[in-house]
Amino acid sequence: MAIGLPGTLWRGAEGGRQTAPSGRKAVDKMVRLNIPLDPGKTGREAMSLESNLRKLIVGQDEAIQQIVNIYQMHLTGMTAPGRPIGNFLFLGPTGSGKTRIVEATAETLLKNPRAVIKIDCAEFQHSHEIAKLIGSPPGYLGHRETHPLLSQEVLNQYHTETIKLSFVLFDEIEKASDALWNLLLGILDKATLTLGDNRKVDFSRAMIFMTSNLGASEMSALMSPRLGFAAPEARRRQSAGTVDEQLTGKISRSGVEAARKKFTPEFMNRLDKIVTFQPLGTDQLKKILDIELNLVQQRIFNTSTDRAFVFTLSDSSKGFLLEEGTDLKYGARHLKRAIERLLVQPMSNLIATEQVRGGDWIRVDYDDSARSLRFAKEAEGLPVADMARLVDTSVTIPSMAMASGAAIEPARIQTAKSSKRS
Ligand SMILES: Nc1ncnc2c1ncn2[C@@H]1O[C@H](COP(=O)(O)OP(=O)(O)OP(=O)(O)O)[C@@H](O)[C@H]1O
Ligand SMILES: [Mg+2]
Repeated sequence: MAIGLPGTLWRGAEGGRQTAPSGRKAVDKMVRLNIPLDPGKTGREAMSLESNLRKLIVGQDEAIQQIVNIYQMHLTGMTAPGRPIGNFLFLGPTGSGKTRIVEATAETLLKNPRAVIKIDCAEFQHSHEIAKLIGSPPGYLGHRETHPLLSQEVLNQYHTETIKLSFVLFDEIEKASDALWNLLLGILDKATLTLGDNRKVDFSRAMIFMTSNLGASEMSALMSPRLGFAAPEARRRQSAGTVDEQLTGKISRSGVEAARKKFTPEFMNRLDKIVTFQPLGTDQLKKILDIELNLVQQRIFNTSTDRAFVFTLSDSSKGFLLEEGTDLKYGARHLKRAIERLLVQPMSNLIATEQVRGGDWIRVDYDDSARSLRFAKEAEGLPVADMARLVDTSVTIPSMAMASGAAIEPARIQTAKSSKRS
């Protein structure tokens, strides 16, 4: 094996940098270690990003893995110079987590899920709308008043002391006009954008995410064919809410094929990763239900500390929400709507009519005969510490509430059966 070209720098057995003696002699002098290395292992920071994303995003392993890989390359300085940190194209059905995963990455790394600069490509179809993104050239009417949406300040606005990263999301790129498309190509290739007044914006510390529903109709036809041999099987699968591996592969391929047909090779070649998000099955929606319920509980704690109360759901009530919220075509969006309609809206009526007050513990059950959720007060006057014990560990109790010990009077538990959300 050839080790070190004559005259190149190499690290000797003692570790010092020296000029390699040429030929056979160098090989003889070198201590050969042959220690196997494991390139599959990631560093601590990338690992922590991965484990956080796995808590927030259900399924979509490939997308998580690709984001973690690109982040790892950025951390070690291995990103190609003069390019964005990563250029991702996310395809796949609606409500499968394409936007959520970008927010979850920002939430994990910048502690702010809103730290994402979102450009909805459908809104920038005409040239005067492009001016909203890059500003108009000097001399144009209103030049000084326009603040480009993609200036360096906007791009850097969420940087923290330690993390100087930007997340830029171009939604529905298939709807981008030619002018926007040209801007995008420049950003993806050279990590630069030229504003109307010729200032340059540097995107080399940005992760660029593009989403498209391209191929979604082919994907939904694969999921629920109305005709042909596959139809009965698809109906069974849809009612069971499962998506098998073979179907997963077909869906991935149909996404990438649709993208190749629609987009030019010069665009496709600028992408680092193309990921097709998979439709979510019942098992995955079940996990998302728990995440979403915890988010509703979090909302209750965040609105007002004296009005904070806790709620727990029985298995049957969760089953009902899942049944009402499962639709393979609309993914988690349908589930979120079911939660809002069947749980959040009735709860807000209970709050408005003061049937529910701060410190209450509300139990939610399923009423089989009425096919609806039933709400009952399990306890009242609970101190915050007791409420904290009833909720999932992912819910953060505002420290103010903990310190003031809101509603300190002793709890009057009426019919406590379980102390955990079942
Ligand atoms: N895989 C997932 N894991 C956790 N939550 C999810 C997942 N997919 C969707 N959700 C939930 O559903 C909501 C809608 O999903 P999201 O906005 O990511 O859809 P999308 O794939 O971007 O769809 P669209 O193509 O319509 O923009 C999210 O805010 C999140 O609450
Ligand atoms: Mg989206």
